[in-house]
Amino acid sequence: MSSVSPAGKSFYVTTPIFYVNDAPHIGHAYTEVASDVLTRWQRQKGSNAFLLTGTDEHGEKILRTASANNSTPQAWADKLVHDAWLPLLETLDIDNQDFIRTTEPRHKKNVQRFLEDLNNKGFIYQGSYEGNYCVGCEEFKTDSDLVEGEGAFAEELVCAIHSKPVERLEETNYFFKLSEFQQPLLDYYEQNPNFIQPESARNEVISFVKRELTDLSISRSKDKFDWGIDIPWDSNHIIYVWFDALLNYITAIGYGEDQDKLESLWPASIQVVGKDILRFHAVIWPAMLMAADLKPAERVFAHGWLLVGGEKMSKSKLTGIAPTEITNVFGSDAFRYYFMRAIAFGQDGSFSWEDLSARYQAELANGFGNLASRVVAMVHRYFDGAVPEAKNLTEADKKIPLAAEAAVQAADKAMEQVAIQDALVAIWELVDELNGYLTEQEPWILAKDEANRERLATILSTALEGVRALAVLLCPFTPKASAKLWAAIGHSLGDLADQPLLEAASWSQLSPGTKIGELDSLFPRVEQEDKA
Ligand code: ME8
Ligand code: MG
Repeated sequence: MSSVSPAGKSFYVTTPIFYVNDAPHIGHAYTEVASDVLTRWQRQKGSNAFLLTGTDEHGEKILRTASANNSTPQAWADKLVHDAWLPLLETLDIDNQDFIRTTEPRHKKNVQRFLEDLNNKGFIYQGSYEGNYCVGCEEFKTDSDLVEGEGAFAEELVCAIHSKPVERLEETNYFFKLSEFQQPLLDYYEQNPNFIQPESARNEVISFVKRELTDLSISRSKDKFDWGIDIPWDSNHIIYVWFDALLNYITAIGYGEDQDKLESLWPASIQVVGKDILRFHAVIWPAMLMAADLKPAERVFAHGWLLVGGEKMSKSKLTGIAPTEITNVFGSDAFRYYFMRAIAFGQDGSFSWEDLSARYQAELANGFGNLASRVVAMVHRYFDGAVPEAKNLTEADKKIPLAAEAAVQAADKAMEQVAIQDALVAIWELVDELNGYLTEQEPWILAKDEANRERLATILSTALEGVRALAVLLCPFTPKASAKLWAAIGHSLGDLADQPLLEAASWSQLSPGTKIGELDSLFPRVEQEDKA
């Protein structure tokens, strides 16, 4: 991510749009949280940051699920969006600027407009398709994508991802000349080494594209099913659900309708996806954009999978954990913190209740929460809630602002490289430094003798500034705790949202004498039934 975006250009982050065949599990929540953290970080740095998320509502998978539930696909999608997908954003405290549904008119008509444009430019032709299709993936499959089935599907070839048989398709449909973009894509990857991340994802895509790129079937015959957007010039066909879905990233921001808005946001600064859908985003999508004379995104980041029992957590395999199972016990801040801290972004990771619980207690409650509570409580107890004044700094006092500045720099460097875990590690260096400082300085002992008054003031002033810096730095990760802390200590400095992140370590922002408020525990003890 370029930290200095061109004037007027926003920092635009997207998540995949999720299928509404079922309710979200913590895998979807993970993508949402990471995208939100990246967006909030840039917003706290002063950039005009925009997060888009939404739902993917067309295609055979949704149609079948709706039918199986005696519903129409539209009614089913409406229900899932309102009962499950929009509430997910509340559950996780996601600050998205828009939410797109592919059944909205702003999407449907501009998908058609895009396809007309590609057709006029000569990138679409009619042909016949013969091959395999996995409805679970909504993807055309080559033989090498299939594996030997097990159990009920023994002796059959099944989709390697869904472990279910694929379907044989033979139909006349429309094709996009993807093959023409083999060299342009390879050139683009070469000239934009940060386009695909992490490195393993980039290498995989490059070798895939180098092997061979075949044209892509982008329509399905209505003889088979009709839940999708019509091919504008041929109402016997609907547009392939992925071709429809990928376009959400531009139909949501004005493609075909509001050129100024489109230009203020596109190309996206970062598109966050799971590695299961990397090729769609790093091969097909940039080729579609190039065909339309639009720029590919600046960066596509493929994160890893949350595993349960060593397997990818999934709706179809019934291993999904609902995000509320976690947030109801630990709260949204803990959910956000835990997944960003415990798993290196870009790698697979296993979720465990024990690890979550241990980190909650050690890092959030005892590490950060207790630090903030102690400092605020001592300012009340010894200084009547008025910010004390620092005088005659010792070496130990002088180390704290340096540690804060180091944390800001290291965390920002990490966030610019999408190394979210490293950013939290850097911020926790400051948490640990401050806790160590208090342990060494023992202000509660100094407070017993009036002669130490000046020294006590200096220590608590220093610690309070450190806690203030943490409130700002952690705001993208734990927005509720930061807001609560800010309400207690920061109101004299204005809104938390207006505190420039890169200046979090600039010292002595709280004026001596300013009254601060009381602070309830930021991460209270949890009542936990045995989850393990
Ligand atoms: O693929 N671990 O939607 P989808 C981590 N509609 N992330 C996971 C995960 C796991 N176990 N399981 C799911 C689609 N995800 C399309 C996308 S975009 C134009 C269209 C997350 O509902 C991860 O982000 O199957 C993955 O890429 C996405 O959910 C797939 O969601
Ligand atoms: Mg999926």
